[in-house]
Amino acid sequence: MPRTHRCGELGRDHIDQTVNLTGWVHGRRDHGGIIFIDLRDRQGITQIVFDSEEDGSCHQQADQLRHEYVIEIAGRVTLRPEGSENPHLATGEIEVRATTLRILNESKPLPFSIEDDVHTSEPLRLKYRYLDFRRPRMNKLLELRHQISFQVRTFLHHRDFLEIETPILTKSTPEGARDYLVPSRVNPGEFFALPQSPQLFKQILMVGGTDRYFQMARCFRDEDLRLDRQPEFTQIDLEMSFIDREEVLDLTEQMIREVFQETKGIDLPDPFPRYTYHEIVSRYGTDKPDLRFDLPLEDLSTFARSSDFKVFRHAMESDGLVKGLVVKGGAEFARNRIDNLVEEAKSYGAKGLAWVKIIDDWKLDSVIAKFLNPIELQRALPQAQPGDLLLCVADKPSVVHNVLGRLRLHLGTELNLINFDRWEPLWVVDFPMFEYDHESKRYVALHHPFTSPAPQDIPFLDSEPLKVQAQAYDLVLNGFELGGGSIRIHSAALQQQVFDLLGIQKEEASKKFGFLLEALELGAPPHGGIALGLDRLIMLIGKTESIRDVIPFPKTQKAQCLMTEAPSNVSHDQLKELHIRSTWTPTENKPKDEL
Ligand code: AMO
Ligand code: AMP
Repeated sequence: MPRTHRCGELGRDHIDQTVNLTGWVHGRRDHGGIIFIDLRDRQGITQIVFDSEEDGSCHQQADQLRHEYVIEIAGRVTLRPEGSENPHLATGEIEVRATTLRILNESKPLPFSIEDDVHTSEPLRLKYRYLDFRRPRMNKLLELRHQISFQVRTFLHHRDFLEIETPILTKSTPEGARDYLVPSRVNPGEFFALPQSPQLFKQILMVGGTDRYFQMARCFRDEDLRLDRQPEFTQIDLEMSFIDREEVLDLTEQMIREVFQETKGIDLPDPFPRYTYHEIVSRYGTDKPDLRFDLPLEDLSTFARSSDFKVFRHAMESDGLVKGLVVKGGAEFARNRIDNLVEEAKSYGAKGLAWVKIIDDWKLDSVIAKFLNPIELQRALPQAQPGDLLLCVADKPSVVHNVLGRLRLHLGTELNLINFDRWEPLWVVDFPMFEYDHESKRYVALHHPFTSPAPQDIPFLDSEPLKVQAQAYDLVLNGFELGGGSIRIHSAALQQQVFDLLGIQKEEASKKFGFLLEALELGAPPHGGIALGLDRLIMLIGKTESIRDVIPFPKTQKAQCLMTEAPSNVSHDQLKELHIRSTWTPTENKPKDEL
């Protein structure tokens, strides 16, 4: 009895047809002589009627049905009696009057119900992921994932890109997280690393003349997990030869615009606004700002330098900064609400949060009011008005930006400033090439060591490395870093010069990346590319709060899979075969359900 239709497609056009349907028993109502079954499959729900007067034996059989039994039915499509239509259901005008029923499988009572709005803890959902997938919301997210990947593949295929797979068992790559290692049985004592990204392979493909490469690439990073981070995730990874930055940005924008348009009918701006790294950090405190609301950081340095408040003056005298947020209407906040903001700022690393209520006629209400000149303050903040609250941090620039950037986000949520229907993509360009890490006392690459410096800055590489800009770019959407990439170094000598600066000695460079350095000497074309976080893209388009909702089988905060219970112990013999001995002595059973 092959099925003739899916459970979401029958309507008026099918009246009087005999149909065969399959699916799960979603709901069951027994009205004595009549049993109603809501039959569900991936596409939807159809009401099936078992009427004892029409077909006694079929009705009797239906009496055995319970939630989530898997069944097959045949029957005739009829209009529902007037008044019993269900406008919330695509098939709500009809029902199928069953003449045959076959139970394909039974089900025990479930650990949770297959409905969207019933609260079920996430550990339980992850343990029984297959039941979670039966819920319409999760089902839709899987569908969205497929649509987005399909759209991306089609877009790139039409632009002459080749989809090429790169190895999973490979060598450590330098994205900066910890590697996942795999011991080699046939090479005792040696390990593969799972790729943190296909970075080096895609560059090698360019040297191989591939010209345009893409891959839905699995990446593995052993790092602390957050709501937008998983140890195993997917990148839309691309690389192109003989291009400049404009071509990469333009192609990426077009692709993202097309994905939004085709999957959700959303028009994104054309072009995406572009900011330099310094501009964006200075204005929003972060290089991935949420621009769905404004609340910029105001620079109070000039005011602070001449103020009588010691904390402000001291910060200015020691290469620091003073910046603030002007909270509209905040002068009305009660003291404990302000105290909470102070605590919040301290939890982000601030030494304190100076607050000033601007009241009528620009009088100032604050514990530090006596140190501040209202006329000077008004000059420094032309857009502030009586009724506003000023929140300031004085510290090293990195602390000021980090604290106020996070406080801005906190206020955005607390004051309902975020318009959830808005989409605010932006490019961040002109990143510095290096940062100085005071702990390890050396320069580190802000992007990765294969990023090309801006040509005009190459002369400063040795003399003033912190001045050198990288040809790197990040795509940000609604406060999330959606992607990042760069134009790469294609000269072996320049690559070695950058390695030297990063403290990667010749010998180490040749051990780790010798194959790349050699390739760069054998006719490497100019090239560049980008990688976008596919999971983050789906999370944003799908408007979910957690990346775990869009990765079919995700890991918990403790990097565990609650369904398979991976990672797990392996036998002594397996370890022996791999020439490995564990130094770990289990103290207690590890908890399995934390997120
Ligand atoms: P990068 O390290 O910036 O660049 O990664 C690119 C994008 O991948 C996504 N991403 C993640 N998503 C989920 N979980 C994670 N743990 C995670 N880590 C990164 C982000 C990020 O913007 N090889 C370079 C790209 C290039 O230069 O072309 C790279 O991997 O959305
Ligand atoms: P104090 O002089 O430490 O009593 O601080 C006086 C006020 O200045 C308090 O409201 C503090 O929260 C605030 N404050 C202290 N340090 C800083 C700082 N680094 N930046 C901004 N405000 C500060």
